Amino acid sequence: MKFYVTTPIYYVNDVPHIGHAYTTLAADVIARYKRLCGYQVFFLTGTDEHGQKVQQAAEKRGVVPQKHADELNIAFKNLWRKLNISNDDFIRTTEDRHKKVVQKALQILFDKKDIYKESYEGWYCLSDERFWMEKDLKDGSCPDCGRKVEYIKEWNYFFRMGKYQDWLIQYIKDNPRFIMPESRRNEVLGFLGRPLGDLCISRPKERLSWGISLPFDENYVTYVWFDALVNYISAIGFEYDKDKFKSWWPSNHHLLGKDILTTHSVYWSTMLKALGLPLPENIFAHGWWTVNGEKMSKSKGNFVNPNELIDEYGVDAFRYFLMREVPFGLDGDFSQRALVGRINSDLANDLGNLLSRTLNMIKKYREGKIPSEIKNKDRKLEQDIKDLVKFKEYDDLMNELNFNYMLTRLWAVIRSMNVYAQTAAPWAEKDDGILSNTLYTLAEGLRIIAVYIYPFMPETGQEIWNQLGIKDKIENCNFKESIKWGGLKDGIEIKIGRQLFPRVEEKMESVDKVTATESAVAEAEERQVIGIDEFAKVDLRVGEIKQAERVEKSKKLLKLKVDIGTEERQVVAGIAEHYKPEELIGRKILLVANLKPAKLMGIESQGMVLAAGGDGRLVLIGFDGEVKSGTKVK
Ligand code: MSP
Repeated sequence: MKFYVTTPIYYVNDVPHIGHAYTTLAADVIARYKRLCGYQVFFLTGTDEHGQKVQQAAEKRGVVPQKHADELNIAFKNLWRKLNISNDDFIRTTEDRHKKVVQKALQILFDKKDIYKESYEGWYCLSDERFWMEKDLKDGSCPDCGRKVEYIKEWNYFFRMGKYQDWLIQYIKDNPRFIMPESRRNEVLGFLGRPLGDLCISRPKERLSWGISLPFDENYVTYVWFDALVNYISAIGFEYDKDKFKSWWPSNHHLLGKDILTTHSVYWSTMLKALGLPLPENIFAHGWWTVNGEKMSKSKGNFVNPNELIDEYGVDAFRYFLMREVPFGLDGDFSQRALVGRINSDLANDLGNLLSRTLNMIKKYREGKIPSEIKNKDRKLEQDIKDLVKFKEYDDLMNELNFNYMLTRLWAVIRSMNVYAQTAAPWAEKDDGILSNTLYTLAEGLRIIAVYIYPFMPETGQEIWNQLGIKDKIENCNFKESIKWGGLKDGIEIKIGRQLFPRVEEKMESVDKVTATESAVAEAEERQVIGIDEFAKVDLRVGEIKQAERVEKSKKLLKLKVDIGTEERQVVAGIAEHYKPEELIGRKILLVANLKPAKLMGIESQGMVLAAGGDGRLVLIGFDGEVKSGTKVK
């Protein structure tokens, strides 16, 4: 019953953004869940403090790298506190406990001749800190970041990574859960289809001084990736605390972004093999967040700062959004509009509303005390809710890290409870026993839902328990026990408290980021199969654009008048950066005609224009032939 989960250690060249928050949050969710299930958990995160990037960032600020790292790692620690992250350790690669282990690992590999010295020449990318073969360059620049490369000739130390190539291919084939999701596993196998070669693991000190000295050659420092990857074993005592190490290694999950999958699945796996250690049970590569369809970058000034979002919307709303919006493994797009949408619908409307109506009815009809359940008064309505809240797939979905689908399913339960509250109509109920059962069912359902919610939104889960009058802390409970029906004691006094999630009305209208969720939604749906009936609910119509004009003070929005045969619709579309108003007149487009009207920048939009999006581009969907306005699309 041990569970070891890690995040990447983050470079301290800059302050944390939403991408960093994402991996750490995912690790927190699974760590909290496993603790509830009775596991002893070790959840590790930290900072990667050596190497060129950090040295350059320090130089830019005019401080020495150590001082820079000492200051910047605090920004990560503070964010984790604010985000309610329950990590058990925080490792910094400049700590002695880490440096010693890196040197120990290097020495082991050197002694077994898995590290050798050789003269090397090639193209070097300063930013990526790696060599490239001439054939891999793109127009003479780094194929990865596009920056200029330098031709370098020097003696260096190499790790015999190539020697383990065949073994690694076989290992990945034999262990389907080792690299997830499957698409990423295939990518790694594709990468391993070409000769692997050896890995340069040193940098001469005259070129880079900020790193861990090689134990067998003082003139070199360790390549930052070799140094960084070792954190996963240095934090748990490799070669200095045998018992601790034995109890945690191998890890259950290494969570990371797709950009650093090769370093983990290929470099790290072969390093472990060479050290004679077993491989982690799973390496999970999640996707990347873009912002309004664009890559986050300093030069674009579109970094999303998690601190500001937490201050503005609250920690649990932010946590919920990140885990709910996009399937873990796929790319997603961030926008405040999408965040506010989730707060208003899922959190305020569905969950918040369910709690407040339940508590208010208990106050009104039962003097604020949880009623007893009367066995022979149960109806099918109550039975259905009991079945629903059993949520048998919860454990499987959590173990697959399928957070987004898990929350989708959980919200289906919450919505069914709201429907139940409506159908059971306690306000019209004459039978006292039935009324008691209805109120109990709602309260008990909420008590269990709070447990399910807790790993994602720890404060909210606990707040629900507090308001139901339960004195215990969810974090001290056992998951299996606490989701059994009947745990809520009758007679306890409820404590109506703050509204869980107040609606964020005004922001919806002022936020000028309308294209945001399109790609996220498209990808989110990929893992959620829908039936033909659900699809049939969407009324898709051919429309003709009759008028188009820019929306004042908005870079993205156009106001359109669209003829859909039976009527003319006013539609606000986020396509102003991709189409000029005049080129749209007379154009046939595809419109979602039965979308609930919404206001964008104060202008009502009666439908949504469909466009294909990605890489910051939007292309309107058209037709391969003549069609009349108003034609239904099936
Ligand atoms: N220091 C290395 C990791 C060493 S682990 C032994 C590193 N650091 S990083 O700070 O650049 O990135 C850390 C993590 O943040 C990576 O998993 C990366 O994928 C993730 N993200 C950085 N930008 C991201 C997005 N825009 N979206 C999602 N995650 C992203 O790499």
